[in-house]
Amino acid sequence: MDSSKLPVHISFIMDGNGRWAKERGKDRFQGHIEGVESVRACVKAAVETGVRYLSVFAFSEENWGRPETEVFNLMDLMGKAMAAEMPSLNENGVRFRVLGNRARLSEGLRKEIEACEAMTAGNTTLDLIVFMSYSGQWDILQAARKMALDILDKSASLEEAKVALQAVTPQDFHDALVTAGIPDPDLIVRTSGESRISNYLLWQSAYSEWIFTDILWPDFRREAFLEVLEIFAKRDRRYGKLK
Ligand code: IPE
Ligand code: IPE
Ligand code: MG
Repeated sequence: MDSSKLPVHISFIMDGNGRWAKERGKDRFQGHIEGVESVRACVKAAVETGVRYLSVFAFSEENWGRPETEVFNLMDLMGKAMAAEMPSLNENGVRFRVLGNRARLSEGLRKEIEACEAMTAGNTTLDLIVFMSYSGQWDILQAARKMALDILDKSASLEEAKVALQAVTPQDFHDALVTAGIPDPDLIVRTSGESRISNYLLWQSAYSEWIFTDILWPDFRREAFLEVLEIFAKRDRRYGKLK
């Protein structure tokens, strides 16, 4: 594939695990377990094709409102999948990161995440970013607060703070989001036939290409990954300008 037509950053709203399980008369949890296999397949395909950033929406701020057992199972799976996958991710040059509202995660999970991030921090083949306890609105709010508080801290007077606030640029704002330093997704794929953003990367998706596919996440493997790359390669991106 023409590398100039490859997305630098591909992102997935991994949806449909529950329905995948239901179709097979299985517990929802089995769908989530199969979903981890899809992440593994996509990571492998991303490394092979030369995609530089792969991100996945694993758990939204709204998902905390699901039944307690489902939340517990998802958190537990996250910890187990991380422990199981980290050695091979590290061997393959994958840098692992979790972005979102970490304060809501258990201390145990937070520590495991920090250890995995530290272990893979120097890797440069692929960045695998997992959005956990994340929502786009939460990200925008935390960025706005952080920026305003930073400015207040650094200003000698209220007047000076007002001047600094007026001078804030979109780039400054971008740098205050949890995705600072990560290129915006070129392509966002949502599986399972739902055509909505569900509070994902609201700011960062301003010029993302979108693909909505009926495939349920646990069925989204190598072939489907290569197929979305083909579709993306044919897209004409104009960013509001004329060509
Ligand atoms: C996606 O699958 C995983 C998470 C949102 C955590 P779902 O659990 O949303 O599966 P469906 O949408 O019920 O099929
Ligand atoms: C979006 O899926 C969130 C994740 C994939 C983590 P949901 O299943 O939570 O979204 P809705 O409820 O269908 O919008
Ligand atoms: Mg869903």
